[in-house]
Amino acid sequence: MTVTVGIDKMGFFTPNLYLDMRDLAAARNEDPNKYLIGIGQSKQAVIPPTQDVVTMAANAAEQFLTPALKAEIGMVLFGTESGIDNSKSTAIYLAHLLELPAETRAVELKQACYGATAGLQLAADFVRVRPTAKVLVIGADIARYGLRTAGEVTQGGGAVAMLVSANPQILALDPVTSYHNEDVMDFWRPTYRTEALVDGKYSTNVYLDFFKRVWRGYQDQTDLTIADFSAFVFHLPFTKMGRKGLRQILPSATEPHQAELTAAFEASQADNRNVGNLYTGALYLSLLSLLRHQTMAAGERIGLFSYGSGAEGEFFSGTVQAGYQQGFDSTAIDQLLDRRQRVTVAEYEDIFMQRLSGDGSDAHLAVGNDPAEYRLTGRQGEQRLYQKR
Ligand code: HMG
Repeated sequence: MTVTVGIDKMGFFTPNLYLDMRDLAAARNEDPNKYLIGIGQSKQAVIPPTQDVVTMAANAAEQFLTPALKAEIGMVLFGTESGIDNSKSTAIYLAHLLELPAETRAVELKQACYGATAGLQLAADFVRVRPTAKVLVIGADIARYGLRTAGEVTQGGGAVAMLVSANPQILALDPVTSYHNEDVMDFWRPTYRTEALVDGKYSTNVYLDFFKRVWRGYQDQTDLTIADFSAFVFHLPFTKMGRKGLRQILPSATEPHQAELTAAFEASQADNRNVGNLYTGALYLSLLSLLRHQTMAAGERIGLFSYGSGAEGEFFSGTVQAGYQQGFDSTAIDQLLDRRQRVTVAEYEDIFMQRLSGDGSDAHLAVGNDPAEYRLTGRQGEQRLYQKR
């Protein structure tokens, strides 16, 4: 008997500060519509020094983890390209912070924005051979390009946590998947840099080319066509990027179906538009956004396009499960987004520069203004200090 495997639970976290893209446009002498429509972003998460990928992941996972569920987790796969150590993995820090069992396999995965998809697919294959296993998969990142760069408007940050299991509550993954890689320099970040380097326009072309290829590769392996899909969700470095991806395939759908897919896309970009790029987490925030903002029927099929610069792309699919709304806490996500404070451009620029210094010196961070459950409090003896409230 084939085991149904997929995403059982999802959690999301982004810090309590944001920058309004109209304020950024004014400060950078740009027409606000370039950012709001041309790029398709309204707000951008601003990451205080008291949050890093470990604390953001812990805050996201805590949204659904209960003590009983924690005891069942046998593996943690942490996708990130904003790691905090070149040796010790973020997954070990996370497992300790969340008090997961010591009998847990914990490892960090990196391939730009693709890391969480690698985690999801490895977790799904693991559960297919061990159907009682539960795997915690993370996509957490801080998207940084630098002040006054073309990429600045596409920054952001946060974390998505997913529990992968048999008989999942949210999305059953179809076993067929299509992937492709090429060695390209569209976006990269050498270990000595804190901001990414990017060939912006080129990266958007590679993204679209990869989407075309893996969508074709997927169709070659199945009898499915665009008519079999109720929605497509995309890696969203900025929402216009996914819109361009969808436009590539829309002409092959009937007119009423084009309208349906476009409406689903609007739902799937609503949250990303207010957070910015999450790198590894962006595709999965888009999936959550779709499920939060549009009602779907059990059995409807969603196509997912994952893209990580450098580059690796994958197209895969899953079917919505009955009662999928019970797999995440939409009210908590609304509250998280609604309670954020708007910062000025001057405050954002100041926070952008406030990171733990690169010289390894001791530091104590003022955590008083950060309402999150898990926070980074500083560094002592070249070791990061974390705290749960
Ligand atoms: P830019 O050159 O400043 O922007 O940078 P532009 O001149 O191309 O304009 C952007 C759009 O706004 C254009 O629309 C303009 O027409 C429009 P498009 O032709 O693309 O449809 N526009 C306006 N619209 C309405 N009213 C106006 C107006 N003015 C202009 N007044 C760029 C844009 C994306 C290149 C830059 O932000 C960048 O470099 N971003 C970072 C790179 C990136 O996000 N790449 C995406 C693909 S790669 C990827 O997804 C992987 C990634 O997530 C990393 C990873 O894998 O780890 C990045």
